[in-house]
Order: sequence, then structure tokens, then C-alpha cells
Amino acid sequence: MKIGIIGSGNMGRSLGLLWAEQGHEVFFGARTAEKGQSVAAFAKRGTQGGTNDDAATFGDVLLYTIRGINPAEVLTAVEILSGKILIDCNNSEIPDGFAYAPIEQSLAEKLASEVPKARVVKAFNTMAQEVFELAPSPLKHHKVSVFVCSDDAEARRAVMQLAEEIGFDAVDCGELRHARLVESLGDFIRFMIIGQLKNPYATISVNVLPAATDQRLGGRQS
Ligand SMILES: NC(=O)c1ccc[n+]([C@@H]2O[C@H](COP(=O)([O-])OP(=O)(O)OC[C@H]3O[C@@H](n4cnc5c(N)ncnc54)[C@H](OP(=O)(O)O)[C@@H]3O)[C@@H](O)[C@H]2O)c1
Repeated sequence: MKIGIIGSGNMGRSLGLLWAEQGHEVFFGARTAEKGQSVAAFAKRGTQGGTNDDAATFGDVLLYTIRGINPAEVLTAVEILSGKILIDCNNSEIPDGFAYAPIEQSLAEKLASEVPKARVVKAFNTMAQEVFELAPSPLKHHKVSVFVCSDDAEARRAVMQLAEEIGFDAVDCGELRHARLVESLGDFIRFMIIGQLKNPYATISVNVLPAATDQRLGGRQS
């Protein structure tokens, strides 16, 4: 796959490098071509670097790491995003005391409203950069969920595949409006990581347990 990274900071560099390790063609974009090129020089593995415009042109799949900023402010022409899978990994800023306001519109839905012709997928917002350092192994032994939402089922499956390739357990979360729930999970895990446990390796995953063999507690009443 040809993958363009729009904003090559912690998340862009980490995910781009992991996908390059899996054999994907990766282009790191940044506000200046020099920054994009320097990330590619660090990542090696045949990656390229340049501007965000260059990355958006290059990729069939794009990772958008620029929190809450309309692509129209980042790219010369947003039409380049039409028909492309646009992964939104963003979380909102952490408010004082972790006093989050209820999410009425997720960052992913906002992004989709700004670029309605892009195939926006929410993913990769519920674990810290440090967790990506463990990918794909030993991460894959720990069944760490990546929650994936999109109104485009094919795009959702493609991103789930990209998550699985780097050792995550992709969880289909259905439509993009469920990104409100997934972004709340992102807020919760940062509360844990930063506010409570003070450990960036804390993660949040769905676990499906084996069914009980008997119902000695009486089972669930209707
Ligand atoms: N870091 C984590 O552990 C983590 C985990 C999960 C989710 N997230 C979320 O992922 C997103 C990115 O996080 P990050 O840690 O990768 O942040 P970061 O290292 O600060 O990278 C963000 C990138 O955004 C670009 N940027 C910022 N303002 C811009 C603007 N006005 N125009 C164009 N580009 C701009 C910067 O580009 P330049 O390089 O060109 O300056 C930077 O590379 C955030 O929403 C964060 O909440 C982060």
C-alpha cells in the first residue's frame, strides 16, 4: 500500500515506520519538506519525505495527525483527499483536572464534515506512542485493541488490516459516529496513563471471555 503521513510527529513517525517495516511504501509529510525528509532519513526502509501536500498526493491511505485543524489549512488543495482513506488518530487536548466536556461531535466526524469526499476512519487514538514501540512483537502477545470506526466499510476493513499487521487486535466499531465513544476511551486512557497510573504502557482493550459453564448465580433475569 502507498501510505502518506500528514504531520510526522510522534504518531506519524511511529506508525509510518511500523508500516514501512511491513513492506508498505511510506511518505512522511510535514510543514516543511526538510522536516519530512529528516523523518524519512531516520525511518530509512525506503521511506520518502517532503511536504504534507506531497504526502497527501503520494498515499492511497493517509494518516492525519494534526489535531482539530481543518485540512484546508494544511493542504494547498483538499480535493487531493477525495476517495482516499484518511485515518484520524487524534484526541482532544487534555483539560485541567481531566474535566472533559461531553463529546457531541468527535474530531473524526468534524474531519469528515470538512473533507466529505475523503473516507475518514477513526483508529489508533487509545494507546500512547510508547505502546507502538512494542509493535509488532511483543505487542501481539497482549491482544491490544485498536478501535476502528468508519461509515465506509471497505476503508474500515483496510485500516483494521493495517492495525493487525503491526500486532494489534483490530476491533470493528462500526459507523463513524461511534468515534465519540472511541475518543472518550482515548480521554479515559490518558486519564489513567497520566493522571492515575503514571505509566504510558497502560492500554484499554475489549476482552471476550469464555462463557460460564453453569449459572450458579441465577443467570440474567429478563
Ligand atoms: N503521542 C501519543 O502518544 C498519542 C497517542 C494517541 C493519539 N495521539 C493523538 O495523535 C495526534 C498527534 O499526536 P503526536 O503526539 O503525534 O503530536 P506531535 O508529535 O505534536 O505531531 C503532530 C504534528 O502536527 C503537525 N502540526 C501541528 N500544528 C500544525 C499546523 N497548524 N499545521 C500543520 N501541521 C501542524 C506538526 O507538524 P510539523 O512536524 O510540520 O511541525 C506535528 O508533526 C494528537 O491529536 C494526539 O492527541 C497521540
